[in-house]
Amino acid sequence: MSNGRALLAFAAAVCGVAALIIAKRMKDRSNWNHALAILEDFHRESATPLQRLQQIVNAMLVEMRKGLAAENESTMKMLITHINSLPTGDEKGVFYALDLGGTNFRVLRVQLGGKKKGIVQQDYEEKHLPSHLMTGTNTELFDYVASELANFVSEEGTRYNLPRDQTRELGVTFSFPVKQNSVASGTLINWTKGFAVTGTVGKDVVEELQAAMVRRGLKMRVAALVNDTVGTLARGRYVSGDVMIAVILGTGTNACYLERVDAIPKMKDALQRSGNMVINMEWGNFSSSFLPRTKIDDALDMDSINPGYQSFEKLVSGMYLGEIVRRLLLKLAREADFFGENVPPKLTMSFILSTPNICSLHQDDSSDLQMVAKTLEEVLEIRGTSLEVRQIVVEVCDIVARRGARLSGSGIVAILKKLRRSAIISGDAELHKARLSWQGQRTIVAVDGGLYEHYPKYREYMQAAVVELVGEQTAAQVSIEFTNDGSGIGAALLAACYSEEATP
Ligand code: BGC
Repeated sequence: MSNGRALLAFAAAVCGVAALIIAKRMKDRSNWNHALAILEDFHRESATPLQRLQQIVNAMLVEMRKGLAAENESTMKMLITHINSLPTGDEKGVFYALDLGGTNFRVLRVQLGGKKKGIVQQDYEEKHLPSHLMTGTNTELFDYVASELANFVSEEGTRYNLPRDQTRELGVTFSFPVKQNSVASGTLINWTKGFAVTGTVGKDVVEELQAAMVRRGLKMRVAALVNDTVGTLARGRYVSGDVMIAVILGTGTNACYLERVDAIPKMKDALQRSGNMVINMEWGNFSSSFLPRTKIDDALDMDSINPGYQSFEKLVSGMYLGEIVRRLLLKLAREADFFGENVPPKLTMSFILSTPNICSLHQDDSSDLQMVAKTLEEVLEIRGTSLEVRQIVVEVCDIVARRGARLSGSGIVAILKKLRRSAIISGDAELHKARLSWQGQRTIVAVDGGLYEHYPKYREYMQAAVVELVGEQTAAQVSIEFTNDGSGIGAALLAACYSEEATP
């Protein structure tokens, strides 16, 4: 080849490479712009400006009233718990609790020493609930739980001077929607949070547990069957009479509060005509056209084992936050080559991102987002991400967590408003505590659950939403307090309140 020809061929090759580079750059830019557009849409659809939150508060108030007026009229069941007396601190004795409601369950023993001594001793064991039991049969589930409880009791020896054959008093926290027939009985309405055990819906949960305990030769009497929110309220009350509301923000979400009996029209044949009653709202199922749902949320709901149910929970709680983030990242990967030309295989696996993962992605405050790089690598096997990509991942987590937290804050404000109105109408001294600023009285909201406990940004966003909605002055009277292990210890406290001795 002559020199001239070689030169021409070389120049053509250079031009070819340059064209490829330019084409690649243009594709990258167009992908990047597309990724930003997807993010922008998601941001807009998930937005929770103040006005939207106010609409949600009002919609929740309407649903609360409907649920208190009649059965099956509201998306929130507003369940009557039959709990009308809460711990005072005077309780004495040894009581047990079983706390079942997620992938782990706990068995506890609490020794109460009365006003001066309080909780003298508490022991607990946390057990993992094998996943096949969450979707197995009723008998398998209760037999397993009863046998763990029996082991726990048998290991205590003579430490508490309880004769081996003495009937022990048990408080059961069962964190699913239950229609209570009395303090110590109730039928399961439906499962939530990924549980789908056959043969339990419509049955009395206490009878099922009691039968399994008999099969195991365990002498225990279920003194109280409670929701985890109710356990948390009881735990809070043991410390302060200002606790009026309890909220769970964990795998699932829910709230309960103390309502005036005459504000519960559906309690027609009630034995009790005055005083207060704890209402388990089951707010996880709250639904309203004002909720900021995106197409991603619709798809998550459709693929869940309970489509159409637990709409609020699917936006707010720990079980779903990671899955929403994963779905958005997958969309970015598929439609905008966000993590390169290939979609990372792990990103296609449902529920692979947990809330603790989201929390560590979200709260990385290093300048080069090293923690984000590490988490993406370890959990999703995505390597070599640029800083810009990591920044967007953080933003996705921020949008999802902020929306959830602001919605849960709105739920709290709806209850505060309901309490205030109830108090004004009735002049009820106890509910007056909830009248907020006018009286200078404090209202405490007791909160339990891993999402709240381990996710500081979520807590901040929730608190900020409450302040925005009620104003600084009123917010200063509302204290949102973490109530550690409320659901477990609270059940033991309620077992004490409703023990054979306490209820002649
Ligand atoms: C259940 C509630 C429970 C909440 C928090 C929800 O899925 O329906 O009964 O209180 O989770 O555990």
